[in-house]
Parts: sequence; C-alpha cells; structure tokens
Amino acid sequence: MIPLKGRVAIVTGAGRGIGRAIALALSRDGANVVVSDINLAIAQSVAAEITALGGQSFAIETDVSSKADAQHLASATLDRFVKIDILVNNAGILATGPLLDTTVEIWERTHAVNLKGVFLCTKAVFPTMMAQQSGRIINIASVAGKRGGGFFGNTCYAASKGGVIAFTKGAAREGGPYNITVNAVAPAMIETEMISGMPADMRESLLRSIPLGRTGSVEDVAAAVCFLASDGAGFMTGEIMDVDGGLMMD
Ligand SMILES: NC(=O)c1ccc[n+]([C@@H]2O[C@H](COP(=O)([O-])OP(=O)(O)OC[C@H]3O[C@@H](n4cnc5c(N)ncnc54)[C@H](O)[C@@H]3O)[C@@H](O)[C@H]2O)c1
Repeated sequence: MIPLKGRVAIVTGAGRGIGRAIALALSRDGANVVVSDINLAIAQSVAAEITALGGQSFAIETDVSSKADAQHLASATLDRFVKIDILVNNAGILATGPLLDTTVEIWERTHAVNLKGVFLCTKAVFPTMMAQQSGRIINIASVAGKRGGGFFGNTCYAASKGGVIAFTKGAAREGGPYNITVNAVAPAMIETEMISGMPADMRESLLRSIPLGRTGSVEDVAAAVCFLASDGAGFMTGEIMDVDGGLMMD
C-alpha cells in the first residue's frame, strides 16, 4: 500500500535538514511534494532528487515571513497540482544567547519566521482545505516551546515555538468542523546544521538527560510527520508529539 498516493504536500524550509527529510519521506509515501525554501538553489536540488527517484515535485522560493510569498506558495501549488492535502510548516531559525543579548531585531526575525510564518502559510492554504473538507497541517515546534528553552534555544526561540504549540491547538479547533487536522511535532536534538555549533560540553550534558542516550535523526522526525499525514492519524488533532528520545517524559 502506498499511504499518501496522489496527495499533494507542501513542505516549507525543505531545502536541507529536517525539511528535506520530510519532503523525501512524503514523496516515498506517494505524495506529490512542493519543496519550498527561502534558498531556491537548495530547494531545487531536493526537488530534483525527488524527481530522479520517480516522484512528482517542484521547487519554489518562499520566505515564510512574507504574506505575498505564502500566498504565492499556495497558488503555485494549486496551479500545478490542483489541490492541497498536506502543509508541513517546518521552516525555522534558531536564536541562542541570553535574554539581555537578544536584540529587538533578533526577537522580531525569530518570531517572523518561526511563528508568523506558520500563521501566514496556514492562512494561505486554509480556504482550499475548507472547500475540500479535508486537510492535514503539521507544524514543527520544539521541546523548547514546552520547556522555555534552556538548552541551545533561548527564551526568544522558546517563546516563538511556544506560540507554535498554542497556534496548533487554536487552528485544530477551527479546522475540526472542516475535517482539517492540525498537529505538531516537537523534536529535540536532531542532527542538522541548526545544532552543529553546539558546544561539546552542552551536547554531553544534554545527551545524559535523553533516556535513549542519542541524538535524533532527520528521519526520526520525518517518520512522525508521515504518520500524522496518514489516514491512520485521522482522529488526532491538536496533538503535540514529542520526538525527543524520551527527554520530555513525566
Ligand atoms: N535540529 C533540531 O535539533 C531541532 C529541534 C527542534 C526543532 N527544530 C525545528 O525543526 C525545523 C527545521 O530545523 P533544521 O534543524 O532542519 O534547521 P536547518 O537550519 O538545517 O534548516 C532550516 C531550513 O529552513 C530554511 N529557512 C530559513 N528561514 C526561512 C524562511 N524565512 N522561509 C523559508 N525557509 C526558511 C533554511 O534555508 C533551511 O533550508 C525548524 O523549525 C527548527 O526550529 C529543530
């Protein structure tokens, strides 16, 4: 069985890291995938990878913090693939360092990408999903949004991801009557360029607090997203699914 055969999926920030793995996994599961990123060159290379593997895909340059870009993303997807079944709001940027070193510019850019981007892309696809009476929206939050940061991400990053968690629940309430589910995945310590600058002592102490004793892979996150996009997750909405090696368990 090909679980997502014929579905149309948009993945933001899909040019590298977790987003790239999600795009490849959704395509492997049968979806046609729109590879969106602020960096067009890396988006194009992921779309080419998918096409070479026999999938259907195209790349598009999108800054998720731009209303015009978000709307163009939705309309270009409809032009090419006619419908929008799945939106994965993955694009995000990290902010580190103490509160007193966080400038207003850092605060605004972090929230513009991590939170406003989720709002704008969701708003851009919602009318189509409402008309279809079906849709899956999956937001990539972070354990930082539950814990208030504390590891690599700082207060500013945590606040933006906490916003994503609240947004997920609010949109799930609004989407419910239209059969639109809205869920989030909250990863911790996934091996990507985002955490490659983590100091060794911080990495070691973090690993000690993860019961599975390892960092996560981008495929670990992609698998959770594919499940949330699948028919099997049809009765789940407003859920925040930790992919964290057990870090957050009570
Ligand atoms: N790596 C981790 O440990 C970890 C943990 C928790 C949550 N996350 C979240 O997972 C998501 C992906 O992270 P990653 O580790 O793959 O990061 P990454 O930095 O490797 O990749 C992020 C991608 O987003 C793109 N991007 C950045 N700003 C954008 C914008 N304004 N519009 C569109 N695209 C933009 C980048 O070009 C890049 O391709 C982020 O939301 C991040 O906060 C990551």
